[in-house]
Amino acid sequence: MKGANYSSLGTYSGINGGGNVGGTGKMSLGKSIKMYLTIFILTTCIYMALYQYHISREPFAASEVVKPPLYIITPTYRRPEQLAELTRLGYTLKHVVNLLWLVIEDANKTNPLVGHTLDRIGVPYEYMVAPMPEKYKQTKKAKPRGVSNRNRGLEYLREHATEGVLYFADDDNTYDISIFEQMRYINKVAMWPVGLVTKTGVSSPIIQEGKLVGYYDGWIGGRKYPVDMAGFAVSVKFLKERPNAQMPFKPGYEEDGFLRSLAPLDDAEIELLADECRDILTWHTQTKKNAPGQALNRTRYKNTNLEHIDRLLVRP
Ligand code: UGA
Ligand code: MN
Repeated sequence: MKGANYSSLGTYSGINGGGNVGGTGKMSLGKSIKMYLTIFILTTCIYMALYQYHISREPFAASEVVKPPLYIITPTYRRPEQLAELTRLGYTLKHVVNLLWLVIEDANKTNPLVGHTLDRIGVPYEYMVAPMPEKYKQTKKAKPRGVSNRNRGLEYLREHATEGVLYFADDDNTYDISIFEQMRYINKVAMWPVGLVTKTGVSSPIIQEGKLVGYYDGWIGGRKYPVDMAGFAVSVKFLKERPNAQMPFKPGYEEDGFLRSLAPLDDAEIELLADECRDILTWHTQTKKNAPGQALNRTRYKNTNLEHIDRLLVRP
């Protein structure tokens, strides 16, 4: 075996350096073609490697980062559907660059299960809590859902953000990602239609000859801005020029109250997105309420996987 190796090694070196061994000082045509081919292939490989490196360092990242940031404020609360809703929304947001997801739970403390879910999705996020004030929790009437959460988000923006756009994205809605690219560049406030709202099936600004002339919604309720939470966005700069703007704890009037608190705001300054409100890119989807999972029989299922998945169930 040793001998065989040696002789094959000999043959190999013969191919490369054999030309000079012969003492002629010239390479045969075949050998020089091989040499040039080797040099050519090596150069090509080095060039390709350098090019790949160049590509990986440059274009996309640089051009995306200059886009204005989006701040997505998502109220959430403890219930069986919570992780499923956040997962669905999170993977939508994952298609959007330069975005910070402010997930704010109506609770006194954070839930590690929510934290793990957000980590797994991998969208840049801040997870905070903002409990609904006790007096609203106790009421038998309609509750101001997600209001303390959204106001906490506004507070965060006033402290940490300087530019870009804020959007209130409830955890249970459906969003076409193109709306995020459209809202990124607005000056003050933008609006657009939201599907699956009230008996009209859609809530939308009414546009005539390019102008906002009113609102279409199954419930107007004396509102100046009868729009759904999913149907508007506000620029951070504009928000910061209105230090008192916030959302009222007034069921049904959260959007209207917040938009009114941005005054002065001229109707003509409201930008109309989604093809000048001729398209539907967001939906007020509502999820069926699920009963909390029943308690696991720990004796019967001891030492099984069920002990693990039971810890993943969110029970109110
Ligand atoms: C509709 C609107 O889309 C909401 O923006 C508005 O706040 C709400 O009506 C209202 O007027 O009370 P709806 O689908 O009926 O929303 O309500 P939910 O989806 O149950 O709640 C809105 C958001 O608040 C959700 O992101 C939800 O996770 C959160 N929420 C709900 C809480 O943080 N705490 C709660 O107790 C309930
Ligand atoms: Mn909802």
